[in-house]
Amino acid sequence: MKIIGTGSALPEKSVTNDMLAGFLDTSDSWITTRTGIHERRLLSTETLRELAMKAGRAALESSGVRPEDIDYLICSNVANSYVSPSLGSIILGPLGCCCPTFDLNGACAGLVYALDMADAFLKTNRARKILIVAAEQPSRFCDWHDRATSVLFGDGAAALVVTEGEGFIDFRLTGDTHTDVMYYKRSLEPTPYDRVEEKTTPLVMEGREVFRLAVEASIRDVDALLGRNGLTGADIDMFLLHQANMRIIECIRQHLEQPKEKFPTNIQHYGNTSSASIGILMDELSRAGRLKNGATLLLSAFGGGFVTGAALMKWSEIQYK
Ligand code: ACO
Repeated sequence: MKIIGTGSALPEKSVTNDMLAGFLDTSDSWITTRTGIHERRLLSTETLRELAMKAGRAALESSGVRPEDIDYLICSNVANSYVSPSLGSIILGPLGCCCPTFDLNGACAGLVYALDMADAFLKTNRARKILIVAAEQPSRFCDWHDRATSVLFGDGAAALVVTEGEGFIDFRLTGDTHTDVMYYKRSLEPTPYDRVEEKTTPLVMEGREVFRLAVEASIRDVDALLGRNGLTGADIDMFLLHQANMRIIECIRQHLEQPKEKFPTNIQHYGNTSSASIGILMDELSRAGRLKNGATLLLSAFGGGFVTGAALMKWSEIQYK
């Protein structure tokens, strides 16, 4: 499998740390030093559906593939206003696609999970051209009175078009049950039979424990992919890591003893956009001409569950109009 098109979309509204400090007991210096985040984009006038469509259209356009020639649309999304239909179903028709679609929830690792699944579909001839859209609005999971979580996230969408080719070399996905360290619960409708009282609980996160799990898991995935492919960190041209916290990225970088230039970031401007983060970063780097033909990339993402996904790949340059 190889990537032949990329796209991304971000909300217009930028919210700085100082703006948050206007209603939360926080400060620009706390947020910047603990996370590396200076501002984030938050949905206000647009909808997640519009962001997902914009990213999807940009990816299709850059790939030169017509929407009607897409064989599968895989959407990565943790939650949106609709439980059903899926976000994939909602954007499928308006995008001009006519194919099977479903959403997957791989938390922040969702895009890597979607890539792994697309790779399997291509290898088993279930599809020849696949559109992946990762669209997330974590700003709507948070309690905006909770300074420990709300400052971390931003909304955004990314999309990739993939087809057969010599791009992806190896994947490593993992899962583990750690439901207490990070969760967001939505209440379901009551029935006369099920007496369990439920209420929606905005995102709860044990920040320090999530930090530890994230660093450990990403290092384990990266080392495993490097080891079993006979590579070292020096063989990788760029590490595209989930943009959750600048300090998490720095811990992984120090473990690999590789220069900062190999770890591009955009968390400063967008915060943690969940499963869209690696896709947005990839789209920006590719459009800026920073991903060269044949460059070896290592993607690594981790998120609620706890789930992780990593991929080793060679980049093929995309021509943007
Ligand atoms: N502003 C000011 N003070 C704050 C804020 C804030 N926004 N948030 C917490 N604090 C306070 C705490 O109340 C605490 O105060 P206390 O010492 O008086 O009790 C103090 O700052 C230190 O809090 P810690 O939680 O220990 O701070 P820490 O250094 O661990 O940083 C952080 C917190 C940034 C959340 C860090 O733990 C982290 O990044 N964890 C990983 C989070 C993450 O990446 N989650 C998503 C990953 S997976 C995915 O993407 C879905």
